[in-house]
Amino acid sequence: MKLATLDTPAALVDEACLQRNIARMQRQVSGLGPRLRPHVKTTKCVAVAEQQRAAGGTGITVSTLREAEAFFDAGFDDILYAVGIVPAKLPAVKALRARGCRLIVILDSLAAAQAVVQAGPGLEVMIEIDTDGHRAGIAPDAPLLLDVARTLHNGGAVLVGVMTHAGASYDCRTHEALQAMAEQERSRCVAAAERIRTAGIPCPEVSVGSTPTALSARHLAGVTEVRAGVYAFNDLVMHGVGVCGLGDIALSVLTTVIGHHGTWMLVDAGWMAMSRDRGTAGHALDFGYGAVCDEAGQPIEGLVMGSANQEHGLISWREGFDGGSLERRFPLGTRLRVLPNHACATAAQFQHYEVLKAGGSITRWPRFNGW
Ligand SMILES: Cc1ncc(COP(=O)(O)O)c(C=O)c1O
Repeated sequence: MKLATLDTPAALVDEACLQRNIARMQRQVSGLGPRLRPHVKTTKCVAVAEQQRAAGGTGITVSTLREAEAFFDAGFDDILYAVGIVPAKLPAVKALRARGCRLIVILDSLAAAQAVVQAGPGLEVMIEIDTDGHRAGIAPDAPLLLDVARTLHNGGAVLVGVMTHAGASYDCRTHEALQAMAEQERSRCVAAAERIRTAGIPCPEVSVGSTPTALSARHLAGVTEVRAGVYAFNDLVMHGVGVCGLGDIALSVLTTVIGHHGTWMLVDAGWMAMSRDRGTAGHALDFGYGAVCDEAGQPIEGLVMGSANQEHGLISWREGFDGGSLERRFPLGTRLRVLPNHACATAAQFQHYEVLKAGGSITRWPRFNGW
């Protein structure tokens, strides 16, 4: 299979770019000391996770139990399920652990800690710490932190450590702000672990991470593990945050020009292919539903998918940019690549990746969706 004969729309992965991204993150995290536990929710693809492991990744992070089951079946047996556990999901967790999977769960409430303890001894748990007010977790100085740690420890669960995700880093726009956020994520999570240890409860692991903070941290003293996910593909949001260039985005949607109308042209990738994610809407450079490249992957300056219907993408020049007649430059049948705002969301629209190898051939890698 060749690029020129692929049906469109297709989720195209540039393998050389993917490998560069994997190597960059591994170098960064290993250079600062901790282990890297890649978050596989972006790619949901065993072939990618195998490359992350080969590069030095230790264990994986998942966002659904479906991912945990699929990756365990594919030979990954050290898994952090990094979405708050609820009682109804504990039987599935126990079943996977009974099959030999080291599956660690996270929680940030007394109710969840009590449920874990009641589910039986030996379950491995991390307490989620709120280091940025972004989403979830217990504040490092909250009395609740020690109540939860004691409930787990005294109840027979294994408190593996504390973890946090500085999702607020996606709102940073300068390198200085990113460095400060990385330090905030690190220092607050380490402080939480220290409080638990001072109370006499073992708390060996300190797990932090998001792609922007992982790539911006100057040091990670006290951190034992970093989790990052979207770095494998990168996307326009990471570009807007300032941690990658357009040339570092490994995932694109291959599409075909299907018509011209007024000031725009139409392609066969609408929001069903790109996803509804408009993650760059608040950025200095809003890419609409995606930035447009030629079939070889070279970005075409000024060309964006400003609007999308289910199976139609509407591509036009940015306001004030004169790139010439779309019909003449991109006649019917022209093939283009569109870089996604949010790689996790765009990838989830597809059942498999078409992987462009260095020599120009295409290999198909399955991914999975659902829960
Ligand atoms: C708990 C947790 N850890 C790690 C990550 C990885 O973040 P990123 O995709 O920015 O690398 C996420 C992403 O949502 C997450 O929710």
